[in-house]
Amino acid sequence: MKPISLTNTEQNDSDKQSQARLLERGTLPEHIAIIMDGNGRWAKSKGNMRSYGHKAGVESVRDITEVCAQLGVKYLTLYAFSTENWSRPKLEVNALMRLLARSLRKEAENLNENNIRLETIGQIDRFPKRCKQELTEAIELTKDNDRLNLCLALSYSGRWDITEAVKKLAHRVQDGEIEPEDINDDMISSHLSTAEIPDPDLIIRTSGEYRISNFLLWQLAYSELYITETYWPDFRRDELYKAIHSFQERERRFGKLSKKEQKKQAGLHVQELTT
Ligand code: FPP
Repeated sequence: MKPISLTNTEQNDSDKQSQARLLERGTLPEHIAIIMDGNGRWAKSKGNMRSYGHKAGVESVRDITEVCAQLGVKYLTLYAFSTENWSRPKLEVNALMRLLARSLRKEAENLNENNIRLETIGQIDRFPKRCKQELTEAIELTKDNDRLNLCLALSYSGRWDITEAVKKLAHRVQDGEIEPEDINDDMISSHLSTAEIPDPDLIIRTSGEYRISNFLLWQLAYSELYITETYWPDFRRDELYKAIHSFQERERRFGKLSKKEQKKQAGLHVQELTT
């Protein structure tokens, strides 16, 4: 298979070994979702403007996308612009829009060559014309790719997503297509913007904030959470390996008993029946 390279640097041996170790160690998350935070503080700590931090953040986006494709992670969702981000100073919003449009223009071919599919969730209609155009073109160009699904959450919020799903379901009830009693978890999931994407296995938040910030509220019900103090522009592949390593150490219980406890309880049950 063609080696993945978004960053145009050859993968060194030590990195290959780090990836091989992770793959040997255990199961990888199929879907990683990231709240990219700390661009502003990173820039400030270097005596620079916030937009300098966003620019550096794009380099992390490239590196993390590349490494997810190399490892075989199937879905990567990045919280790139929240509904609440529209309230930031106009200058910063405009700089982010320009950066997004420019990055898409620069990277679309590269994503395509590396068999990566670009998708978005959120209110894309609110974006300036140039951004929408770059997004539409990149989505169209990469639509048949299947190595990694890179989903950008843009003008996205979890509450917006749930509200839209509720509206769609209410219309279906009104049109007599379904009964209110038919509505269940799966039906709600299938009316969200992420209907085609499995729920995230691992949610990462950078910059040490212990919040979900209106990200994938419904979808993260059973996701493992990993929070690091590292600011997003410094979050590169070695940091991702740490997050995946931590994920592999956890036992996902989905509300049930742990495997150890299940065995113990089964033993007690047999004992009860035989005494
Ligand atoms: C959070 O840092 C980051 C954002 C609101 C924007 C993230 C955008 C990028 C990394 C660049 C564009 C993305 C793509 C996909 C090309 P912050 O500004 O909230 O930092 P702070 O909490 O330190 O103020």
